[in-house]
Amino acid sequence: MKLELQKLKNEFLENLEKATDSNVLRDLELKYLSRKGELSQLLRRVKELSLETRREVGEMANIVKTELQERFDHMKNLIDGKETQGKKIDITLPGIKKPLGHFHPTTLVERELEDLFASLGFMVCDGPELESDYYNFTALNFPKNHPAREMQDTFFIDKKNAQGEYDLIMRTQTSPVQIRAMKQFGAPLRAIVPGQCFRSEATDARHEHSFYQLEGLMIDKNISFADLKGVLLAVLRKLYGPETQLRMRPKHYPFVEPGSNGECTCFLCKGKGCRVCKYSGWLEILGCGSIHPNVLRAGGIDPTEYTGFAFGFGLDRLVMLKYNIDDVRLFHSGDLRFLEQF
Ligand code: DAH
Repeated sequence: MKLELQKLKNEFLENLEKATDSNVLRDLELKYLSRKGELSQLLRRVKELSLETRREVGEMANIVKTELQERFDHMKNLIDGKETQGKKIDITLPGIKKPLGHFHPTTLVERELEDLFASLGFMVCDGPELESDYYNFTALNFPKNHPAREMQDTFFIDKKNAQGEYDLIMRTQTSPVQIRAMKQFGAPLRAIVPGQCFRSEATDARHEHSFYQLEGLMIDKNISFADLKGVLLAVLRKLYGPETQLRMRPKHYPFVEPGSNGECTCFLCKGKGCRVCKYSGWLEILGCGSIHPNVLRAGGIDPTEYTGFAFGFGLDRLVMLKYNIDDVRLFHSGDLRFLEQF
């Protein structure tokens, strides 16, 4: 059997040397190395040998087996390398498609609004999400201990300022950027501020601890409430169609006087009443008003010379209404079944 092994080995190596392409290699592998190949058949017969020779021949057979496999692998590498090197690439073959990502629905609506406001001469501003208590509340005419602060409980940073107060918070609204923009650019001013806000909410289908707003303001000489209504109506009609109406009702916000909420005719039922508008025909989508003189002053603008208006859209709410999404928590879920629909 030793002789047979030796013969098989020599024969295999001789053929391997002569192999020039992968077809020949495949045949060789089948004939000698596969499960039904000659080497396996020979190995199977080892157990028929007497106990003394079995061990010796078994050992030798294993060594031969490893060697042949190694030599074979080496040759295969050489031939594979040669074959692919000279090969031309067939550029007519279809490529491998990589899945492409896309924008989040909130980003889609944000961009649509940015384009709209830019076409009306508004610039797009940004501001910090980690904000000081001063910009988020005090400068916006929420004095310390004002009850309106209570409605905007948020996350406080565990670090005191020089006066021993907890001063840093996650902003509860995009309104503090009003002050920052006034300070940076002065009057006249037309700006919008899309961005993320935070509140300490017990989350449910309509409340999240993180959400988006789109703030806007316009400051110039002789700006009135009528200008506010005109701009809002133009925006809403562009978004939801030319039939859209705007309804404004008084509402208190410390940084505007007079303050108002804004409702538009439901874009789905056109005011007739449906599930989306809870059968009222109207959708509440924003807060707005004429900028309070204290706020203009905090921004370094003289309220006897300039007036202005401000507004804040609940951006998530617009997105939910536009795409008929019934749970705000889906926005941050990272759930592809949700995201892939946009
Ligand atoms: N910041 C307000 C909120 O989070 C929304 C708002 C209301 C913004 C009136 C405004 C405004 O600019 O004038 O509830």
